[in-house]
Amino acid sequence: MDFSLLARFSYCVIGDPIDHSLSPVMQNAAFSALQMGAPYGKMQVHREEMDAFFSYARTHLKGVNVTVPLKEEAALRVDELGKFAAATRSVNTLKISEGHIFGDSTDGVGILRALEETLNFTAFGKTILFLGAGGAARAASFALAFEGARAIAFLNRSRERAEALANELQTQFPALCVAAATFDDRAAVKRLFSDAELVIQSTSLGWHDDDPQVLEIPETQATFFDLVYRDTKFLRTAHSRHLRAGNGSSMLLYQGAASFELWTGKKAPLDAMRRALELK
Ligand SMILES: NC(=O)c1ccc[n+]([C@@H]2O[C@H](COP(=O)([O-])OP(=O)(O)OC[C@H]3O[C@@H](n4cnc5c(N)ncnc54)[C@H](OP(=O)(O)O)[C@@H]3O)[C@@H](O)[C@H]2O)c1
Repeated sequence: MDFSLLARFSYCVIGDPIDHSLSPVMQNAAFSALQMGAPYGKMQVHREEMDAFFSYARTHLKGVNVTVPLKEEAALRVDELGKFAAATRSVNTLKISEGHIFGDSTDGVGILRALEETLNFTAFGKTILFLGAGGAARAASFALAFEGARAIAFLNRSRERAEALANELQTQFPALCVAAATFDDRAAVKRLFSDAELVIQSTSLGWHDDDPQVLEIPETQATFFDLVYRDTKFLRTAHSRHLRAGNGSSMLLYQGAASFELWTGKKAPLDAMRRALELK
């Protein structure tokens, strides 16, 4: 691995791929707004390179963001896990001081704050449906369950992954109503959309204009949230039906702000970060 790419940085984001990441522009805007320079870089790290990266980070870096597909790998390598990261076994933020690596996940607070600030949605007592059951659905569903959601369901392409996540949530939150089904189970799809107050699109689809929708969306009055941070077919469907809807850029902003605050102990300059992401 060529760590000289990180030589002038104390912070960075790692993932595979990493080119598309907006974290460097957002985090450097935050550091620079507080006269702390532009110390945040990015690096592509393959799964099998994680041990080498951790050795480098332990002695050379102060903070790291971890993105797809390395969050679970990171959770296995830290010296200490925060509460939310321990529950989800997923780490998106490393804080490194004097060779000690603390790992936590700010994805949970990121989505809760995004839902509240952009859609005025709070999870307590609510019925929530996820499309997808990957790492992001996992972090978001745990956060919503911690906030007191009443029911959480997963529709996914593969049944096993949806059921595994639903079972895990049920174990940690015995009072929560959980359900899992596949996109081609038409009766379940109809019922879950009809019951849902919030539908969160958390599959990897939507980044490209020619990506299909994961399913035809049935009748619903739910609010829509797409973890993808662009205008997707899913969100256009919501708008055409006059449903409330928001994209994932606000989640990116708030999870990034929480990482910044963990590293620096300073309040994140949200306006500067928003401008960097070209959010209104
Ligand atoms: N806004 C933010 O701050 C933020 C934060 C985190 C993630 N995200 C976004 O959230 C999305 C999911 O990320 P992740 O970490 O959960 O990824 P992941 O762990 O790889 O999970 C991917 C999910 O998408 C489903 N999927 C993939 N291709 C599909 C297809 N062709 N048809 C139907 N379903 C498909 C997978 O279903 P199977 O289980 O059947 O494979 C799985 O449920 C990504 O777009 C990511 O960029 C946004």
